[in-house]
Amino acid sequence: MADVLLVLHGAEHRARRLLELKVFRRDFFRYYEHQVFPETLRQTMRPFVERGSADLMDLGYRVTMNLTADFAGIDRPDRTSEETARLLALVMTFSEGATLVHSTRDKDAVRAEVRLAMRRFDEQFYQPSLARRRALVDACQRGAVPADSLPRDVLTVLVANEDRIELPPEVMMREIAFYLQAGSHSTANATVHAFHDLTVWRQSHPEDGARMDRDPLFLQRCVHESLRLHPASPVAWRKPVCPMHLPTGQEVGDADRVVIDLAQANCDPDVFGDDAQVFNPHRRLPDGVPPWGLTFGVGVHTCLGRDLDGGVLPRADTDPQTHQYGIVPLFVQSLFEQGARLDPERKAVPASHTERPNWGAYPIVFGDRS
Ligand code: HEM
Repeated sequence: MADVLLVLHGAEHRARRLLELKVFRRDFFRYYEHQVFPETLRQTMRPFVERGSADLMDLGYRVTMNLTADFAGIDRPDRTSEETARLLALVMTFSEGATLVHSTRDKDAVRAEVRLAMRRFDEQFYQPSLARRRALVDACQRGAVPADSLPRDVLTVLVANEDRIELPPEVMMREIAFYLQAGSHSTANATVHAFHDLTVWRQSHPEDGARMDRDPLFLQRCVHESLRLHPASPVAWRKPVCPMHLPTGQEVGDADRVVIDLAQANCDPDVFGDDAQVFNPHRRLPDGVPPWGLTFGVGVHTCLGRDLDGGVLPRADTDPQTHQYGIVPLFVQSLFEQGARLDPERKAVPASHTERPNWGAYPIVFGDRS
């Protein structure tokens, strides 16, 4: 993670974030959600729906892997499931590295696996993707291809602006690896948590289940409630750059670390009410508090994928036909449309390789829910 966007500070962070933000614009999210994602989702889900079963953790990673590879700028030229599986295995290893602090495994063994995965990623995926983008950007600068035909992804933006920011080659590679893991790990986990929470709620509130099926704005509201209860990172860490007073009354200096407990803040009864600990899509929120709480972070490091994954908040005049729902609500909606439900024969089990409260395996079956 050294020198990737998430851990930069001050002017260096601002310069890189502004550059990469070019890829994360609402108009592009809308285009991606309406034009690209439905087909990717259909293709990825089809073999599982035909087979009648899936492990939702695995399916979640496969769907979101393609999504984040598109945004990061990693090509999958073969478009085979073997190729997706190879990239997925590397990204799963990156995720174990990025969440090392919560790993229950031997940490040096995980570090060695991450180094090997980085080398394989570099050779098999990153270098070919980089070479293709360099050639395209060169051709564009010579006027041989129009600028609007360049791929719209982070790697292309970095290649096209190499002279504007200080980015050694190995940092650029790590930045792209970071994007792959940041996007896919959190989206896959959020999807499984949301599917589970909504399934449990439907069982005890059939009228809300029927509403989820006919009212996608309500389904989006339910997914936001689930996102609040399961922040991908339970904590965010900060290092003070000068002595300062915290709102808690404590004094901190540059030798300290400040831990912002996102999970606890998201369940603060003063903000979310006495039932803050439990799922309730009908809760009333104070003005200005997003329904997902601090799940996407806050401030200058706010998640760049927030609107892509969670969509935008509806307003009184929102048109449900053109609304941007976000990838996680759309994925969950599609699962319900295919009659997905917990496999009655195989139990879902929590992940054992991490202290984070994620699912390890979540077997589902498809077909007529009745
Ligand atoms: C449900 C899904 C997601 C969740 C819960 C999530 C959560 C977060 C959080 C909490 C942060 C801030 C961390 C901090 O302040 O220390 C963050 C940052 C970030 N996220 Fe996400 N994320 C999600 C999906 C995505 C996706 C799909 C992408 C990209 C395609 C993405 C890209 C990023 C990037 C680049 C940053 C760093 C921003 C910066 O430091 O300026 N995230 N995310």
